[in-house]
Amino acid sequence: MNDSSRDRVENWLRYADELGLTPFYRDRAASEPQSSEAAPAPAAEIPEPMRKPAQSRPPFPATPPPAPTPASLFPIATGPTLFEAADRIENDTLEKIRTDLGECTRCKLHKQRNKIVFGDGNPKADLVFVGEGPGHDEDVQGLPFVGRAGKLLTQMIEAMGLQRPDVYICNVVKCRPPENRLPERDEIATCSPFLVRQLDAIRPKVIVCLGTTAAQMLLNTNRGISGFRGEWLEYRGTRLIATYHPAYLLRNPAAKSEVWKDLQKVMSVLGLQAKRAAAR
Ligand code: URA
Repeated sequence: MNDSSRDRVENWLRYADELGLTPFYRDRAASEPQSSEAAPAPAAEIPEPMRKPAQSRPPFPATPPPAPTPASLFPIATGPTLFEAADRIENDTLEKIRTDLGECTRCKLHKQRNKIVFGDGNPKADLVFVGEGPGHDEDVQGLPFVGRAGKLLTQMIEAMGLQRPDVYICNVVKCRPPENRLPERDEIATCSPFLVRQLDAIRPKVIVCLGTTAAQMLLNTNRGISGFRGEWLEYRGTRLIATYHPAYLLRNPAAKSEVWKDLQKVMSVLGLQAKRAAAR
């Protein structure tokens, strides 16, 4: 980052800080704020984290955030979302979207990727999880959330009384950012129309954003996830809730209890029974 960009970011962060909004940048989910609560978490025992040190990205989009507002529908949007005006494509399917994506070279992420990670799961899922972008394992296998964070996500899904094939899992960007850096604004802007189409085609009952990047993109906000994590919001007519990214939980296992509370809200909307409770 050059000096002038750094100054801009610092000024922006100071401004955010004055508003009482702090977590505006982070590495890939690793710097999301830690919970201080110690409520029961999903059964999964998690190995110790091995994440990279925090990276930063200017806020997306780079405009000052609104002051915090009470929880309600769209309490955090800064304006029309990138795709708010986009019509749903009639009879769109995941197959058509994958075909349109092709061997994508639309942004610079294609240069170093191994495989495109389009998404995986039930095309008629009631529940869609949206992550940030593929990591190393995903890039190798062409499937989302198959690395350590993915194993934790699988445990979370199973704790909800579901199996992975019951849900759909995808990411904001479909190609791995080099060195697992954060996706950049132009990459997100280029790739996210495909995510929008995926969500429109699946029409789930609930979208769970895993981490800040997905939440900020779908809600068109700069606000840090801690400002709205666990609140019911809306995205193009669908209930949306944002929770911490599993990679963040690998570093901060104490936050699992927060995530479990969020997932319990989802379970209640979807009429799901927790796995352990159901087994009794
Ligand atoms: N992290 C993500 O955000 N997505 C993946 O697919 C894997 C790790």
